[in-house]
Amino acid sequence: MADKIAVVTGSNKGIGLELVRQLSRAGVFTFLTSRNERKGLEAQAELAKEGIEAGFLHMDVTNLLSIHAAARHIEEQHGKLDILVNNAGILPDEDAESGGLIIPPDIVRSVFETNTLGPLQVCQVMLPLLRKSHAGRIINISSGMGSLTDMDGGYPAYRISKTALNAVTRILATELAGSGITVNSVCPGWVKTDMGGPSAAITTDQSANGILPLLLSEAPGPTGQFLRDGKPVPW
Ligand SMILES: NC(=O)c1ccc[n+]([C@@H]2O[C@H](COP(=O)([O-])OP(=O)(O)OC[C@H]3O[C@@H](n4cnc5c(N)ncnc54)[C@H](OP(=O)(O)O)[C@@H]3O)[C@@H](O)[C@H]2O)c1
Repeated sequence: MADKIAVVTGSNKGIGLELVRQLSRAGVFTFLTSRNERKGLEAQAELAKEGIEAGFLHMDVTNLLSIHAAARHIEEQHGKLDILVNNAGILPDEDAESGGLIIPPDIVRSVFETNTLGPLQVCQVMLPLLRKSHAGRIINISSGMGSLTDMDGGYPAYRISKTALNAVTRILATELAGSGITVNSVCPGWVKTDMGGPSAAITTDQSANGILPLLLSEAPGPTGQFLRDGKPVPW
């Protein structure tokens, strides 16, 4: 049995799926998770064809019951969790097409539910399992679009949700200081996925490569940081 156990939220495609692939290849038993069971099982089967054995959990980060069910499964099967990647995220068309002056508040609320409250809830529920690891790692996949230093107009719901996610990172990192669990925000770069689009700068493989050392490092490493390719970026 693999020594380390990981969970990647929203990993039926995109950056999340590639993180599952790379973590598994590095010898970590990794749970691919998806809000859509069929899509998740198809992604798991795709990895199996490559010789990669990933676990599967049906989890919607906005559904507390599904997060608890996933945590119970991990507790029963493995008794601990070493790596949690809060990757699931949305960027609705309405957000891309309108600015902060006209964005319907309901869109802001729903993006916040997924991109900010989702990771917070997953952290809260998974924390007892992470405390059983000797080196727990929480990575919140944020975005340079959430940087206050580089804040621009457009995509208001997404930007607000990622800035607030960065606050979640800082708060949890402070509260978990000395526990052995590190908490960091990561900008994955501009990545060719359904969200990033075909003109994006890098592939999912390149993006995941830049994140993996932070996940696998045995040394305590940074905590409460905002990183891209392992290097700090402005909040
Ligand atoms: N691509 C970029 O250039 C870029 C840049 C900066 C940051 N990011 C961040 O990187 C992360 C991954 O993005 P991506 O580019 O890989 O996007 P993507 O290809 O659209 O994948 C997003 C994943 O999140 C899942 N998801 C959405 N809502 C969910 C929920 N409530 N519960 C569980 N899963 C949910 C999606 O599931 P479905 O398949 O069911 O929709 C999908 O698996 C996101 O947090 C995004 O904000 C991306």
